[in-house]
Amino acid sequence: MRTRFLALLALPGCAGVGLHEAVPGDALVFEGRLERAPLGLSPAELAALPPARVRGTDPWTGAPATFTGAPVALFLEDGGLPLGRGADLLAFHGAGGRRAAVPVNAVRQLRPVLAAEEDGRPAGGPLDGRLLAWPDLDAPGLATDPRVRWWWLRGVKRVEALSWVESDGKALRVPPGAGDEARRGAGDFATSCMTCHRVRGQGGTAGPELTRFLGSGGPPRLTALLPGHLAARSGQPGVPDLPAAAAGRIAAFLEAVARSGEDGR
Ligand code: HEC
Repeated sequence: MRTRFLALLALPGCAGVGLHEAVPGDALVFEGRLERAPLGLSPAELAALPPARVRGTDPWTGAPATFTGAPVALFLEDGGLPLGRGADLLAFHGAGGRRAAVPVNAVRQLRPVLAAEEDGRPAGGPLDGRLLAWPDLDAPGLATDPRVRWWWLRGVKRVEALSWVESDGKALRVPPGAGDEARRGAGDFATSCMTCHRVRGQGGTAGPELTRFLGSGGPPRLTALLPGHLAARSGQPGVPDLPAAAAGRIAAFLEAVARSGEDGR
């Protein structure tokens, strides 16, 4: 009885971060696997959230900086996002069709911010939308996690709650009969490519969908294209080329996907 009473008291809880049914003009919209969606915050409501600071290395300049803005974990606390069943991934959609798919647990533990300011200047340059910034200078391990470079995102205005097994996990499924090389390539693809490219319909839209890319031409067509590709396309000069072994594994994965003819949906 007592718990039910408390639960009722907590119900108008969205007041925590003030999310309301999304309307045109909202600065930030949450959609996808939520009990109620889409939800949004106006520019003034987003600006009024208690700011947090993280110290990280801006991958576009390579320089350390302090980023100030809304702590994403705030939306995961009581009164925040009503995550639906199985929602364990947040896909942040940024400028130019880039997408960062971050496990909900990583957001809880690492506490990135949707920054409005970088060292006191507007974060993300002239772009509309917030900059998703990570505390790689303070959180040990973040600087060497190969996923994190692609989790930095400019121009974020939309966040989608997803279930990994039903979205990226499904898209990355290795066709039956494909070997270990392809299996590891699926992981490499998720880490280094999916922020801009889709496979079987999931991923970013900055570059073309690659589900059928290796249907003809074979792996050499891919490995010939990759040197310099990540640095050129990301605008992040410090991105190293993929090691040849990883490029070969990604080719094995994409070849197996193209051959299988499954679009995974
Ligand atoms: C930061 C964004 C970005 C990332 C990360 C990225 N790409 Fe691309 N990619 C693009 C864009 C934009 C194009 C289209 C322009 C071009 O061809 O360079 C492209 C083109 C391609 C093409 C040519 C497709 C065609 O139909 O001609 C392939 C293949 C490709 N990328 C593979 C990859 C692989 C594999 C990875 C991961 C190792 C990757 N890309 C990572 C942005 C990206």
